[in-house]
Amino acid sequence: MSESMAGLKRSCRCAELDTSNVGEKVTVMGWVQKRRNLGTIIFIDLRDRSGLLQILFDETKLDKEIFDKAYGLRSEFVIAVAGKVEKRSGETNPNLKTGEIEIVAEELRVLSESDTPPFPIEPGIDTNEEVRLKYRTLDLRRADIQANLIMRSSVTQFMRNFLMNEGFLEIETPMLTKSTPEGARDYLVPSRVHQGRFYALPQSPQLFKQMLMASGYDRYMQIARCFRDEDLRADRQPEFTQMDMEMSFVDEEDVMDVTQRLIAGIFKEVLGVDVQLPIERMTWREAMDRFGSDKPDIRFGMELKDVSDIVKDCDFGVFTGAIESGGSVRAINAEGFGDMSRKQIDALVDFAKGCEAKGLAYIQLTPEGEVKSSFAKFMKEEEMSALISALDGKAGDLLLFAADRDKIVFNVLGALRLELADRKGLRKPDDYRFLWVTEFPQFEWSDEEERFVAMHHPFTMPMEEDIDKLESDQGEVRAVAYDIVLNGIELGGGSVRIHRADVQEKMFKALGITEEKANEKFGFLLEAFKYGVPPHAGLAIGLDRLIMLIIGLDRLIMLMTGADSIRDVIAFPKVKDASCLLTEAPDSVDGKQLEELGINIIEEK
Ligand code: AMO
Ligand code: AMP
Repeated sequence: MSESMAGLKRSCRCAELDTSNVGEKVTVMGWVQKRRNLGTIIFIDLRDRSGLLQILFDETKLDKEIFDKAYGLRSEFVIAVAGKVEKRSGETNPNLKTGEIEIVAEELRVLSESDTPPFPIEPGIDTNEEVRLKYRTLDLRRADIQANLIMRSSVTQFMRNFLMNEGFLEIETPMLTKSTPEGARDYLVPSRVHQGRFYALPQSPQLFKQMLMASGYDRYMQIARCFRDEDLRADRQPEFTQMDMEMSFVDEEDVMDVTQRLIAGIFKEVLGVDVQLPIERMTWREAMDRFGSDKPDIRFGMELKDVSDIVKDCDFGVFTGAIESGGSVRAINAEGFGDMSRKQIDALVDFAKGCEAKGLAYIQLTPEGEVKSSFAKFMKEEEMSALISALDGKAGDLLLFAADRDKIVFNVLGALRLELADRKGLRKPDDYRFLWVTEFPQFEWSDEEERFVAMHHPFTMPMEEDIDKLESDQGEVRAVAYDIVLNGIELGGGSVRIHRADVQEKMFKALGITEEKANEKFGFLLEAFKYGVPPHAGLAIGLDRLIMLIIGLDRLIMLMTGADSIRDVIAFPKVKDASCLLTEAPDSVDGKQLEELGINIIEEK
C-alpha cells in the first residue's frame, strides 16, 4: 500500500540536520536503510543522498496505527516522517554526521513499498559487478557510488566556472554528424529520410570546435560525449566524456598553461592537494627511450638503456639480427629481482611474448654473486661485463634484454617495467606525478595499411622546422602535439592545428589522401577555412579517467579503497562487450523499423 505525501513538504535532507537543530519540527523523506525493534520502541535508519538519519517511533507516544505502520517497514521502503529533532536518548554514533541526534516521529507515510533488494544497499559490498549493473538503479543508491557521482558533479562544475572566468564559451556540437578522424571505428546511425545513408556519432567534437574558431568564438569549451567503437579496456568506454576545449590566436604554451592551471585548481578544490606548476615536460622521443612508453609512469626509475652499440658485433644472432634489420637491443635493470627462480624468469619470458616479443634474454646476478644468463655462451667476457656495467648491475639484480624493431622493444620493456614495479610496490598510490609529453611524431607507420597514418589527427600542425620533411621524410616529422599524463595514464591530449591551406595540402598528400577524398570527407572544414581562419589550438581531457583518478586519491587520503574502475564513475556504464546490462542495449528492432530505414539484416554466420 502506498500513501500520498499531500500535506507534507520535505523540510531538509536527512544528513543536513545536527545538534544545532534540536527542538525543531522537520519533515524528512527517504529510503528505509534498516529497522530495529526494541519492544515499545522502533528505530529506523532513514537514507537519502546526504546520508543517514535515525528515526525513533515510541509506542507510548504514538497512535497504534502509526506504530503498527512503523512495525511493517522493510528495507528500501520510501517513507515520509514528520517529527521533532532531539538529542539521542540512547547511544550516539561518532561515525555518523547525524550521530548525536534522532527524529522523534509524530507522523509516518509509506510513499512506496519495496521488494527485497537483490543485494544490500551499502557501501563496499562484494556483489558481482554484473548483478550490480543489471540492478544499476539500486547500485546507484549505495553511498560509495553516490559519492563518486557527487564528486564528478563538483569537478565538472569547477571546470565550467574556471573556464568561464578564463573567457571560454560553452557551446554544444551535434551528435548526429559525419565521421570525425580520431582513428577509431564509428558508431553509425541509419537515416530514414535518406535511405542508405548514415550519420556517424562523433568520436570527438574536433572538426566542429575548429569551425567555431573559424567563426570567431575565440574560446570554446564543452563537456562533450564521444563515441568510439573500439576494443574496451579497463579505462575505456565506448561512449565517454571529454572536457573539450579550443582557443584562437594562441600557441601550445597557452593551451598547456590553461590546462595545467585548471587541473591544479581541481586538485586543490576537491582534494586539497597542491599540484606543483609548471608540470614537468618530456619529449615523446625521451619518454620512449627512457620509459618505453608515450605515457610514462615516472614515479619510479627502472629506465631503459640502449645497449645496441655494445652488442652490435657480438655472436648472438638474436641481437645482431635485430640491429641489422633496423631495430635495437635495449634493456632494463630489474633491481632486486636477481633471486628469481628459473620458473619465475620463464614466466617473465612468457609475459614478454604476450607483448609480441619473440623472447626475452636475461643476465641474472644472483644475491650469492653468481652470473646466470640465457645468452652468455654467445658473448665475449668483456661484452658481458660491458653490458652489466652499462646497466649498473650488481648482485641481486636481473637484467632483461629485448631485441627487435623499436616499436616492439619499447612495448615489451615498457610493460615489463610496470609489471615489475607493481610487484615491488614501486607505483605508490599516494604519489602523483604529472607529465606533459610533447613533440609527438606526426605520423605512425601502419603495418596493416602499409602507409603512414596520422598519430593524432590530420589537422595537427607539424613543427615549423619539420614542415620540409612532410614530403621526403614523414617518419621524422614531429607534431606540435602534447599529452598530459598522470602516473602512467593518459589524461588528455591536444595539438596546435593546421590553419594554413598549403600545410594542410602537404599533410593530406603525406597521408595518401587525395584531394578528391579530402573534399569528400572534410570538404566542409576545408571550405570553412577558405574564408579567414585564426591560428588555433586545443585539447581534450578524458573526464571519466580524471574522475577515476581523483576518486582513487580522495579515498586514499581518507584511507579508504579507491574507485579502480571507470564504470564506478559513470552512472550508466557499459561492459566489456559494449552492452548495457541494465537496458540490454543494443537490442534488435522490429521489422517495420528496419523497413523504414531500408535495412536488411543478413543472418549471422
Ligand atoms: P584523444 O583521442 O586523445 O583526443 O582523446 C582525449 C582524451 O579522451 C580520453 N579517452 C577516453 N576515455 C574513456 N574511454 C575512451 N574510449 C577514451 N578515448 C579517449 C583520454 C584521452 O586522452 N579531439 C582530440 C583532442 C584535441 O586534439 O583537442 C581527441 O579526441 O583521456
Ligand atoms: P634462442 O637462441 O632462440 O634459444 O634464444 C636465446 C635466448 O634469447 C632466450 O632466452 C630467448 O628468450 C632470447 N630471445 C629470443 N628472441 C629474443 C628477442 N627478440 N629479444 C630478446 N631476447 C630474445
